[in-house]
Amino acid sequence: MSEASLNTRRILLIIGGGIAAYKSLELIRLLRRAGASVRTVLTSGGAEFVTPLSLASLSGHPVHQALFSPDDETTMGHIELSRWADLVVVAPATAGLMAKAANGMADDLASTTLLATDKRVLMAPAMNVRMWQHPAVQANVARLTGFNGLHQVSLVGPDDGEMACGEFGPGRMAEPEAILASIRHLLSDGSGQSLAGRRAVVTAGPTFEPIDPVRGLTNRSSGKQGYAIARALAELGAEVTLVSGPVALPVPEGVHRVWIETAVEMKAAVDAALPVDIAVMSAAVADWRVDGVAGGKIKKAPGGPPSLALIENPDILAGVAAAGPRRPALVIGFAAETTEVEQNARAKLSRKGCDWILANDVSGDVFGADSNAVTLFRRDGTSEDWDRQSKVDVARKLSARIAAHFA
Ligand code: CTP
Repeated sequence: MSEASLNTRRILLIIGGGIAAYKSLELIRLLRRAGASVRTVLTSGGAEFVTPLSLASLSGHPVHQALFSPDDETTMGHIELSRWADLVVVAPATAGLMAKAANGMADDLASTTLLATDKRVLMAPAMNVRMWQHPAVQANVARLTGFNGLHQVSLVGPDDGEMACGEFGPGRMAEPEAILASIRHLLSDGSGQSLAGRRAVVTAGPTFEPIDPVRGLTNRSSGKQGYAIARALAELGAEVTLVSGPVALPVPEGVHRVWIETAVEMKAAVDAALPVDIAVMSAAVADWRVDGVAGGKIKKAPGGPPSLALIENPDILAGVAAAGPRRPALVIGFAAETTEVEQNARAKLSRKGCDWILANDVSGDVFGADSNAVTLFRRDGTSEDWDRQSKVDVARKLSARIAAHFA
């Protein structure tokens, strides 16, 4: 990746109290040379090793030190600071800071910021080898790296080597160049890419097809993947309409959500959102609806249970892909399969007339889960396998591919 790829990226660097704090000065220099903006949070321990003046001079911004500071809260408060960043980097990450982050403790600016952020966090641990190897520290590491989705913390290092205390082993903070490489890697999805000026419609969640006023047909879709896609597209600057069936998820920031219940309503909402450049149809649309929904609650009757006559729902994806002049430039579908994933997905891609299809094997625990393993099949015959990863990461990857397609 080129040096310029960190241009306009915003890094919040939290400096913990360890001798390796001096290396964070070099990291700031490298980041700024790569085009990133850097703001810094200095813990009281960190301030024993580097001065606020050096950090302010190198970053070009005032240093944030206190949780309750009238000055900081009027210029940029801790919540705003945690949201300003594209990535939060903790270097050095001390055992204490990691323990707080692993356990949701918020008793100073650094730990509060780590809990309040909605961005990914990269930690560069630095501590004595015995401390690093202590089961308590390792348990915290496992916890931090095991959090789901956006909350999953990434680590760089620690390196093996001679330590300031004279002992030898893992515990040395990674070198600034290695931390920079990890930052580039974490920001690489969508880095330098933009969907500004592009319009997108995303469908998500299940549909609910009523039988009578109290009952209905639905499915187990949680909507998590579709919501993550809507959010990732918006993060790249697209104007996103999210047409959502009944799910228990908050509206992603910057996204316009349209609530629907039935497939027929979903189709109408998608049609109303056209024209768009991008359509991602991730909803689990019920294939059938009940013909002749009862106006009142169907009562148990001596003749036994009622028979439900079903009629087929409109295929929203196929409809969008065949929308003539209003067809989006890029139409993307999903293929939920339990067997012969590739064969079924490719057949679905051509049957529905879409450009790309994301196939997932739903024989396992995908519904409601936070992670997903998918394969992207394109109409031109190419494909990409994406290992099991968080739905947020799948969404980011897809958005990056979409942005690259339009670039
Ligand atoms: N889809 C849609 N409208 C429908 C049914 C499906 O827009 N009425 C979309 C889904 O959002 C998804 C894709 O079509 O992007 C494939 O959905 P899937 O359930 O895998 O396929 P089906 O069309 O239901 O086909 P089958 O039942 O044969 O697997």
